[in-house]
Amino acid sequence: MKLRVCILGSTGSIGTQALEVIRLNSDRFDVVALSCSGKSCELFLKQVEEFEPLAVATVSECSQLSGVRVFTGPDANERLIEEVEADIYLVALSGTSGIMPTYKAAATGKRIALANKESLVSAGRFIVERARLFGTEIIPVDSEHSAIFQCLLGQDTDAVKRIILTASGGPFLNIPVEQLKQVSPEDALKHPCWNMGPKVTVDSATMMNKGLEVIEARWLFGLPPESIEVVVHPQAIVHSMVEFWDGSIMAQLGTPDMRIPISFALGYPFRVPSGVKSLNFYNLCLTFEKPDTQKFPLLDLAYRALEREDVLPVILNAANEVAVNAFLERRIAFTDIPKVVEMCMDGLSDREVSSIEDVLRLHEESVSTALEIVGG
Ligand SMILES: NC(=O)c1ccc[n+]([C@@H]2O[C@H](COP(=O)([O-])OP(=O)(O)OC[C@H]3O[C@@H](n4cnc5c(N)ncnc54)[C@H](OP(=O)(O)O)[C@@H]3O)[C@@H](O)[C@H]2O)c1
Repeated sequence: MKLRVCILGSTGSIGTQALEVIRLNSDRFDVVALSCSGKSCELFLKQVEEFEPLAVATVSECSQLSGVRVFTGPDANERLIEEVEADIYLVALSGTSGIMPTYKAAATGKRIALANKESLVSAGRFIVERARLFGTEIIPVDSEHSAIFQCLLGQDTDAVKRIILTASGGPFLNIPVEQLKQVSPEDALKHPCWNMGPKVTVDSATMMNKGLEVIEARWLFGLPPESIEVVVHPQAIVHSMVEFWDGSIMAQLGTPDMRIPISFALGYPFRVPSGVKSLNFYNLCLTFEKPDTQKFPLLDLAYRALEREDVLPVILNAANEVAVNAFLERRIAFTDIPKVVEMCMDGLSDREVSSIEDVLRLHEESVSTALEIVGG
């Protein structure tokens, strides 16, 4: 029996690579549902024609969609999950748009293949608790968390001393801190190792991506922040590591290509072809260094956010999304991004969060505060 796959965000970087993996494994997977925001209608129509899903969802309408059930509107992804049964829900939506669909998918009792880190950053406790309650498994797609998940397979999880998340360091790893103020969106969008969507690429340049991943790891693996370390590894070959109490360290390595963690999350517990070329070890030089948190303060802010883990990450995530957009629209400088995030965290730190509704309310409040700071 083929596994039925629903891909939320099928037109993005993760979504299109997932469809490549599925194309290679058409005997194992069947695409039953696809979604996008509605900005990439042309590509979406091609995907619908090729994969013939039962249903699709778009936030804004894509005209010419025919012969398929269509959900539209701001909650289209959630309605798609409710109406179309799948064995795997791949959440490849960008940014905050992933929170409610992931929360919804957590109640299906099926598998979530989770690329969208922002959902766990903002609503980690509520998503993880709900998934546990409904028996939904969450298999990470983020390459670092996929690596850790793989290193932990068959291991005594009580014996974990620390996990070590690797970071490529992004395009500005080696430029002097004084030059960061002048970098443009085009500079920030040139990632040295990965070809990703714009939000995550800018997050990699500020190292907020690693901060978000620290918080994501806290929820996925149930570890305290002091057991989660970050090390800069510019070659992006070691995708992350786990150290055990006996001093043994397990690592997962591979060509930096997201089709590896995507195929792992879809195929688990089996390995399926990903289409990725074997790693060439000749002349390979692997280096590791300490992150410079003076130059990239967002990493420290993410650790600080975990001091109030249900509240501050919501603010951090929302403020960062607004600041990244403002930077991409050339309204603020690259070095203003951490300032906006810190101001929002300081200003709203007394809020309380005890439900998913509180998360959404605080998210909205943080967005408004951040918009005021960046000037609209
Ligand atoms: N790309 C990577 O290599 C990578 C690696 C690790 C983790 N991740 C994580 O994976 C997630 C996706 O990243 P990405 O790089 O694939 O992003 P992306 O290229 O920007 O694609 C985002 C996808 O989500 C859709 N989308 C955006 N907002 C939506 C909304 N409100 N409702 C419905 N669909 C919406 C987009 O549709 P349209 O095209 O129609 O706008 C597109 O299909 C992010 O959380 C990122 O951090 C990505």
